[in-house]
Amino acid sequence: MAPKSSDSVIADINWLRDEINRFNYQYYVLDDPSVPDAEYDRLFNQLKAIESEQPSLITPDSPTQRVGAMPLAAFKTVAHEKPMLSLDNAFADDDLIAFDKRLKDRLEHAGDIEYACEPKLDGIAISLLYEDGLLVRALTRGDGLNGEDITANVRTIKTVPLKLYGDDYPQRLEVRGEIFMPKAGFAALNDAARAADEKIFVNPRNAAAGSLRQLDSRITAKRPLQLCAYSVGIHEGQALPAKHTDILLSLKRWGFAPNDQLQVASSIAQCIAYHQRLGDARDSLDYDIDGVVFKVNNINQQEELGFVSRAPRWAIAYKFPAQEELTTLEAVEFQVGRTGSITPVARLAPVFVGGVTVSNATLHNRDEIARLDVRVGDTVIVRRAGDVIPQIVAVVKDRRPVDAAEIIFPAQCPACGSPATEVPGEAAIRCEGGLICPAQRKEAICHFVSRKALDVDGLGDKLVEQLVDKSLITTVADLFTLTREQLAELPRMGEKSADNVLAALNASKQTSLARFIYALGIREVGEATARNLAGHFGQLDALAQADEEVLQQVDDVGPVVAHFIRDFFIAQENIDIVNRLRELGVHWPEQEISASDKPQPLAEQTVVITGTLESMSRDQAGEKLRALGAKVAGSVSKKTSFIVAGPGAGSKLTKAEALGVKVLNEADMQALLAEHAATNNNSD
Ligand code: IVH
Repeated sequence: MAPKSSDSVIADINWLRDEINRFNYQYYVLDDPSVPDAEYDRLFNQLKAIESEQPSLITPDSPTQRVGAMPLAAFKTVAHEKPMLSLDNAFADDDLIAFDKRLKDRLEHAGDIEYACEPKLDGIAISLLYEDGLLVRALTRGDGLNGEDITANVRTIKTVPLKLYGDDYPQRLEVRGEIFMPKAGFAALNDAARAADEKIFVNPRNAAAGSLRQLDSRITAKRPLQLCAYSVGIHEGQALPAKHTDILLSLKRWGFAPNDQLQVASSIAQCIAYHQRLGDARDSLDYDIDGVVFKVNNINQQEELGFVSRAPRWAIAYKFPAQEELTTLEAVEFQVGRTGSITPVARLAPVFVGGVTVSNATLHNRDEIARLDVRVGDTVIVRRAGDVIPQIVAVVKDRRPVDAAEIIFPAQCPACGSPATEVPGEAAIRCEGGLICPAQRKEAICHFVSRKALDVDGLGDKLVEQLVDKSLITTVADLFTLTREQLAELPRMGEKSADNVLAALNASKQTSLARFIYALGIREVGEATARNLAGHFGQLDALAQADEEVLQQVDDVGPVVAHFIRDFFIAQENIDIVNRLRELGVHWPEQEISASDKPQPLAEQTVVITGTLESMSRDQAGEKLRALGAKVAGSVSKKTSFIVAGPGAGSKLTKAEALGVKVLNEADMQALLAEHAATNNNSD
């Protein structure tokens, strides 16, 4: 075959680049890919192959040029042609109303002002300069007047166009926005860092900043960064639309992914509603936000309002309550868990963070303490976001008092005095006391009666503690021999409460095999594994007799879990307890048929249940939907098939509506269950 003429190679290269840019646009901007990933990869590799044969044809805007370049010695400081301003803050609805009033007065405008509403992304502000459609420079905000040139790093970010899309863009265009790291990418990055024993990042903003500060852009290229463009700075050669939201639409046409929460409000009242809605949805968004930004939508009005010192008069940031705060670590106590693991727990000076007052946080284990290098007396950063338990994410080292004390692990179990030993390969220490340890006994019993186990209503931790301390119960089986008199004599109980507890215990005897297995508290056997075991073996005796090899045939059961299960059923005292429980009347439908043997009308469907249901608990509804093959998830995403929403549903419902996910109410769900029960009547 004759070698291709260079004209025809250039034509091939241009065609490939245009195709790849088009696919990128469809994928990132329109969120609507037109070809499978494999086709994209094929074209991309083809382009790479041609470019590696003819390196002189590589241009900086080629989609292959996102892998990073040779390390720099330092970043250059460059003056912004137009300063990058900051925003005034509002912390309450009244601040917003006052802001709106100020603007109306200044504009001598009687009617409502139209605002663009945007999330305030918690990332790093950036200025991107395009000349003739090509990205030529990326600057950090710096002090607002001078920024650092981080072009090489920014070029590696897939959602930053290297070349603008279309052909109607201004000859010189400065796009401003925020570079951020989505929560999922942040979690994955930290998981990998933890596994490699490397430094982990405190939060997504920190991770984004650290990634952009790399002198070696090949490192930045590996970090999951994204861009959200929120305004235009300088623009030459062409006028822009007269409304901010239309400018954002132009940016979308030129290749910048729009933010999914952008909205227009026709009054300040609607802005307040937007702030409320986004506050509710905050934890379910894929990225961290620290507030919302309202901007006067009409550019003429913006110009008329102008600036005051370093902030525009026409915009305001309405902040959310902080999810990170400083406090002091006052002491560390050691708690004994149900399987004997001894966990250090931080006692903190109470601090209001993420909407609640936090005074405890787990320190996990020795490795975590070493990683944080935390001492008693330290000032620490506590983070609480969403439903996640509070975490100490970092220590403020320069506030360390001289008498800060190192955290010393006990040699003995704090509850029973048995030796506390290090387990090879584990960062935890463990109490060797087994069931002689009252702390382990209490935890095991609390677990047994908990909601996802036997679900004994009204038998809380405090009551279990009293029962164990008074030696009224030693094992879970003793619960079912408790008498009315024994219970009624306890402080704050009385006969009525005693009767309620007995009734709840009685009701709990009728359970399911999956719940019973979970209730036993076998190490590493959580709710899902218990369900898999019940589905696989159908009967408790079959599970109790299974060897490790057989156990590993069950979904999610690896050698470690198989070993723990085997260990549990080898111990005669455990078998005795199980037998006693059955003698005392704990029962479940024998032979629960494995889910995979039943018709699975809801297979492949992912469901989220939120709010309060009237006819059953969310857990019970989940069990019923799972029996039909559905996967029950905790958070809403584009992949959710439908949600079931009862009264009180909040951010999950909002998110489902925003994503166009189908919403069922309780009656719809009942109808769905009834419909399938009719065709699936061999289920339990
Ligand atoms: S507008 C003159 N819009 O918040 C207007 N800023 O102090 C300036 N930010 O660091 C910014 N999300 O990077 C605007 N949707 C948004 C934003 C946003 C985050 C950041 C910005 C700056 C700070 C404002």
